[in-house]
Amino acid sequence: MMMKKAVFTALLSTSALAAFGVHAADTELNIYSARHYQTDEALYGNFTKQTGIKVNRIEAKEDELLERIRNEGANSPADVFITVDVSRLAHADQMGIFAPVKSALLDERIPANLRTERWFSFSTRARIIVYNPELVKAEQVQSYEQLADPGLKGKVCTRSGSHPYNLSLGAAMIKHNGADETVKWASGLVDNFARAPKGGDTDQIKSVAAGECGVAIANSYYLARLMNSTKPDDQAVVDKIKVVWPNQHSWGTHINVSGAGMLKSAPHKEAAVKFLEYLASDEAQAYFANGNNEWPVVASVKVDNPALDKLGKFKADSMQIGELADTVAQAQKIYDRAGYR
Ligand SMILES: [Fe+2]
Repeated sequence: MMMKKAVFTALLSTSALAAFGVHAADTELNIYSARHYQTDEALYGNFTKQTGIKVNRIEAKEDELLERIRNEGANSPADVFITVDVSRLAHADQMGIFAPVKSALLDERIPANLRTERWFSFSTRARIIVYNPELVKAEQVQSYEQLADPGLKGKVCTRSGSHPYNLSLGAAMIKHNGADETVKWASGLVDNFARAPKGGDTDQIKSVAAGECGVAIANSYYLARLMNSTKPDDQAVVDKIKVVWPNQHSWGTHINVSGAGMLKSAPHKEAAVKFLEYLASDEAQAYFANGNNEWPVVASVKVDNPALDKLGKFKADSMQIGELADTVAQAQKIYDRAGYR
């Protein structure tokens, strides 16, 4: 009898409790994150303070984390995957790693076009146009489509066409203008290149300032970072360039997101949902967005960021962000055929 009781007690592990309908609250949460900024310590620390749930973080490059999750399979300790760019989130989703999350709070806080059933956006960034007013006229560069006009021959710079940021933009172009128009656009863009794509978005902005390129495409936070920098070199770059919110008279500026989802194999599902809901709170939104000079998805949240204040408001593409997933692969094919490497 004594023996039996001991065994029974030992069996009262979390899973046994769950089987009896008794729920043991999660005390830990494992986050795989491709975002790591100064403000993150406060971001995670406050979650632990509020919930008592300990946060373990694995931080690595976006594609490495996804590879790791794939290799770990059903045994992955990951509860939440945080990454940047809709094409990466869509890729993760297509791999089938995310579980559906039902949360009235997330539905209420996050605009409908910035969430899906399985992953949620927590901050946004815009794909903007920067130009050198000594080399191109403002009216030549008001839309993405215009960057393919023959008048800009030898003037356009971008990073690689196979980078997720440009694939997501291509996916949006296909959605709005159709595949045929996007084929023409991609080849016009390539014809206009000042040089073969190289470097990151910041390099494109610097090359515009230096006059090597007349116009370039870049994510807004790279420009905001330069604007907020106190380095004289960065300020000199900002002084040389002008900024355009593309497509204000058509479908709006293409926006992209930082987002997260709960894994299907998450060992701590309750804590994972709590964390996603926490990321939509006023306090976390401000940390999360400001850490990378992005905009919070919760409209009422104010971020104290001089560069973003200065950049002001714009009309963003209002398309359902998850729908871009449909055309990312097609965008890659179109770019390949156009020689946009
Ligand atoms: Fe980036």
